[in-house]
Amino acid sequence: MSLSRTGGGEFSILPGRWREGKPEIRPTSRAMPEKILDFRSDTVTRPTPGMRAAMAGAEVGDDVFGEDPSVIALQERLADMLGKEAALYVPSGTMSNQLGVRVHCGPGDEFICEAGCHIYNYEQAGYAQLSGVAPRPVEGTGGVLRLERLTGLIRKDDEHLVRTRLVCLENTHNRGAGRIQPFETCEAICNWAHEHGLATHLDGARLFNAVVASGIEAKRWAAGFDTVSVCFSKGLGAPVGSALVGPKDLIRKAHRARKLFGGGMRQAGFIAAAALYALAHHVERLAEDHEHAQMLAGTVREAPGMELIGETVDTNIVIFRIAPELGTGAEFCERLRQKGLLALSLGPQEVRAVTHLDLDEADTRRACQILAQAAEEAPRSKVTAGKGVSYA
Ligand SMILES: Cc1ncc(COP(=O)(O)O)c(C=O)c1O
Repeated sequence: MSLSRTGGGEFSILPGRWREGKPEIRPTSRAMPEKILDFRSDTVTRPTPGMRAAMAGAEVGDDVFGEDPSVIALQERLADMLGKEAALYVPSGTMSNQLGVRVHCGPGDEFICEAGCHIYNYEQAGYAQLSGVAPRPVEGTGGVLRLERLTGLIRKDDEHLVRTRLVCLENTHNRGAGRIQPFETCEAICNWAHEHGLATHLDGARLFNAVVASGIEAKRWAAGFDTVSVCFSKGLGAPVGSALVGPKDLIRKAHRARKLFGGGMRQAGFIAAAALYALAHHVERLAEDHEHAQMLAGTVREAPGMELIGETVDTNIVIFRIAPELGTGAEFCERLRQKGLLALSLGPQEVRAVTHLDLDEADTRRACQILAQAAEEAPRSKVTAGKGVSYA
């Protein structure tokens, strides 16, 4: 039986061998195997030594009683960074988004969102299951909604219809290959929503990637939104946790719903300390992840049979389409895995690679070599050399 890598090597559980009540684990070979390059997601990072020290030394209390000093410090710090009154620490981005929808909407209400967004596609329609709310997905381009697509969508007051209550945006946009929302468009949509009595929620799971890449500070990005969800467990490199930020009355409402959703945590300060550490040490360094994503994008542009999704790579997510001659997305990812590179197959011909804290420039250079090699291995005659994908 093989274990996943633990900081650089392959390890095996020795069958039937136990030591002090635990299975005995030994490296499978004496030679240190090459590091597995895990580009599947920025959620795979492990806490750094500094972060672990901060966690170990955290002051804690019972957060359900509101007595955990590290959680309180984190909530105050994030609310201040985003220019909002209050914040609520929660276990996941999914919970944070679903609380965001719930504080603005009730049963029979509707929210407008971009059709490729996380809330609509990847959260098991929690808004419907948990809060009785309906979605109104609108096609965007690369995750970007334009105001023109929204005007006219607000339903009139009629007993046959759901009530339009909320607009949700996502920044950066995961399925849009880490796309940063154009600031003016975001502002225009929020202004329009408020003028028409709608609330606004931002899924800012990777908001700090947008902050660092755009140079626009978090407060300005957050200003147009009533509530914002931020994740600590993605590019920021904390092991767990997200937060919902907004006005005091809505955060109080979210606090009550968090308990209902099973998200009330006790000595959560140990993990909140990791998030505090991440806010202090891991925000500016996101620029490195963005540079590494550019390196990957350069390889994809050059490689035969691969084509980037979207015109630009704005932050740390690279999504590309592969020609059928390179196999399906799943087959291509399996070939990459055999060469030591993990990427994610998103669809029949789509592959995603995400840069993060645990991957440095040398790792990225090696990933680029592996990608280029895997593309070269396809029968050349069937694949257009250079840019573009041939479906012939
Ligand atoms: C844009 C976006 N929002 C929300 C989430 C949900 O976060 P979690 O996995 O912590 O529930 C993700 C997860 O990848 C995401 O990419």
